[in-house]
Amino acid sequence: MGKQANDVRLTEQAETNENDFAEIVAGLSGAQKFLSPKFFYDDTGSQLFEMITETPEYYPTQTELGIMQDHGDEIAELIGPQASLIEFGSGSSLKTRLLLDQMIEPAVYVPVDISRELLVASAKSLNADFPDLEVLPVVADFTQAFDLPSPRVMPLRNVVYFPGSTIGNFEPEDAKSLLDVMYQEAGEDGALLIGVDLQKEKSVLEAAYNDSLGVTASFNLNLLRRLNREFGANFDVESFEHYAFYNEAMGRIEMHLRSKKAQNVRVGRETFSFRAGETIHTENSHKFTKEGFRALAARADFEVREVWTDDRDYFSVQYCTRS
Ligand code: AVJ
Repeated sequence: MGKQANDVRLTEQAETNENDFAEIVAGLSGAQKFLSPKFFYDDTGSQLFEMITETPEYYPTQTELGIMQDHGDEIAELIGPQASLIEFGSGSSLKTRLLLDQMIEPAVYVPVDISRELLVASAKSLNADFPDLEVLPVVADFTQAFDLPSPRVMPLRNVVYFPGSTIGNFEPEDAKSLLDVMYQEAGEDGALLIGVDLQKEKSVLEAAYNDSLGVTASFNLNLLRRLNREFGANFDVESFEHYAFYNEAMGRIEMHLRSKKAQNVRVGRETFSFRAGETIHTENSHKFTKEGFRALAARADFEVREVWTDDRDYFSVQYCTRS
């Protein structure tokens, strides 16, 4: 389904509110309550995430931007001219701007995001700044199958761009499945350019998810506000608190929302009870070793061709092709 949003053609996937509700109820019904981190990203949540990236403790965004700045020309060289860039979870498209600036005659840009407002705004501004680029935004939950719009001209190569280490949000099996989808969308001569956060000192990791301004806490708690607004829930947001720690054995940051007291909460017609101290697990953010990511990519038949890092070895940008 295509429709005009000023000068960009927007593709919207079918309404998924009912599926979302079922997924939320299922997640809250288990022994360890769980909600998918994709539910963070309503318009408020997307804005809060942008604010997280500006906190001094949250190193991934600035570090990845630095890597893209330092190695943009090499990356552009590998991608080659007249490519189509398909970005999963594009958000504000800040890093993409940098990449598009360096790319040689980029032909098509397909940003895919779950947050409509941010997607449309960034698509419009990119469209204005890159007049020769065809911008085809898609509102979709990229964890489900979705159709790509067809561009006016055939690009020479498809490059799937997945920055921010969002791959870390997925369990290894789901990450593998997502890479399989990217493999399909990259096509024959295609490539994957992906941001991968690296394992490091626990104190640095934990500070990044417990910023002193409390933006990450607001981002986490916004999930409950969203359930109240959109899914008929009655969470008393004040009686939950943000809790984030590095689980060393699993190599991941875990975020939870912890109930400060015993209480019942309604979501639609369902009631869920919480013990004092019980948590809803809201996010995993896996941190990788270079070997670990190489092995994961290999499971989806991607071969890592190039790895760029910063001087502290905090973050990596990796270029993969079909093996
Ligand atoms: C956007 C998924 C990469 O895991 O670091 C930031 C989201 N959560 N602070 C991450 C997030 C808490 C972020 N990703």
